[in-house]
Amino acid sequence: MARHSQGSQYHFLLSAEQIEAIASDFRQAMVNGLLGAASPLKMLPSFLDIPKGEIEGTYLAVDFGGSHIRALEVGLKSGQAQIAAYRKIKLPEAKSAAELFRCIALLVKAVALSARYLGHTFSFPCRQQDLNTAHLIAWTKEIATPGVEGENINHLLEQALRQQGVAVQPVAILNDTVGTLLTAAYSYPGADIASICGTGHNTCYLEPAAPRQGKPMIINMESGNFNKLPFTRFDKALDAESERPGQQRLEKMVAGRYLGELARLAIMDLIGQGSLPDTVGIFHVPYSLSAEDIAGWVEAGPLSTWLKAQGIVPWTDAQCSLVTNICQHILLRSAQLAAATFLGVLLHIDPALERKHVIGIDGSLYEKAPGYAAQLEFVLGEALGDKGSSVEVKLVKDGSGIGAAIAAAVASKEDGYNGSHTDETW
Ligand code: BGC
Repeated sequence: MARHSQGSQYHFLLSAEQIEAIASDFRQAMVNGLLGAASPLKMLPSFLDIPKGEIEGTYLAVDFGGSHIRALEVGLKSGQAQIAAYRKIKLPEAKSAAELFRCIALLVKAVALSARYLGHTFSFPCRQQDLNTAHLIAWTKEIATPGVEGENINHLLEQALRQQGVAVQPVAILNDTVGTLLTAAYSYPGADIASICGTGHNTCYLEPAAPRQGKPMIINMESGNFNKLPFTRFDKALDAESERPGQQRLEKMVAGRYLGELARLAIMDLIGQGSLPDTVGIFHVPYSLSAEDIAGWVEAGPLSTWLKAQGIVPWTDAQCSLVTNICQHILLRSAQLAAATFLGVLLHIDPALERKHVIGIDGSLYEKAPGYAAQLEFVLGEALGDKGSSVEVKLVKDGSGIGAAIAAAVASKEDGYNGSHTDETW
């Protein structure tokens, strides 16, 4: 398993000591955030517990992620989720809130077969007042559609649905990490932490006694904003040029949205030092490399074939393996950092590891990036030693969408929506 990149001036990988320090600082930031003291972690209440009892029925879900929007109709029964209808579009470059939410309403229209109640996974930091009311604090993942920040998100969706004549009622809004935890808990007893390691990055967990409520509640930490971290000069350069410098520092080191750009910055640095031949084009264009590109080089190689396809003068084998190595370390560091924060959560909820924990993860990095899942589990295993077997990590595919359906089921039960709302509501 890759550890230090000794001798390289392109240090990305973290040592076990650095990982331990991050876990401990993260735990402290959680405690501070819960107490309302200054903390990079927003610790946002979700108004949801892990669902208890039988959850069944057919519900609609919208999953508004970082790169795509999905709409689903989901049948829930006996711990199983069946997707009856599904549509997915690329996140449109909308110029206004109305344009953005019209796209979502049309997507819902296309999948609404029989269900009436809708859960809405909205993958951005929101200040939530109750299960169905959430105001966007700020966009992340370099999205900047005007007119949405500060707004009540489900209100925007309701308006758009009404304008499109879609008789569907949003009853719950939740973060994608929360959706993933609901889905994980639906299938795996003991699930109490969930994370997205995809275009964006964030983690939530089940807080045994949430502030003010004093009862168990899933907390969306917005962990992507954690910032007590060992930054490389590439992390600093990326942050300085980003849409919101100083914000989402962990996310800028972990999330797929940024990993290709970190690689590009390292490649430009090598070009600047004369270690790689200069070429006009792709490497000079910010965000021209994706996490998928660099994962492809690490996994499939050879990089030379990719360069050829781009019309770039071939590099030597040594140059190719230097770059591939850097890319691999960028990917593996992402897994190390995510794991370090999971260790921080475990330190907070169960320091002696007295019970079993399942960590549910959704997202393309965890699912597909070469060595990513193995590295994450290696870090956990190394830090937890003989207690390691009490922590299991599970891929929770489509967790955020299915979780929205589960939240809709919970909300419609809790608020007596079933049968008590008539069409006049619309
Ligand atoms: C958002 C989180 C979200 C994460 C994963 C971040 O940019 O702030 O709310 O959970 O991306 O999608």
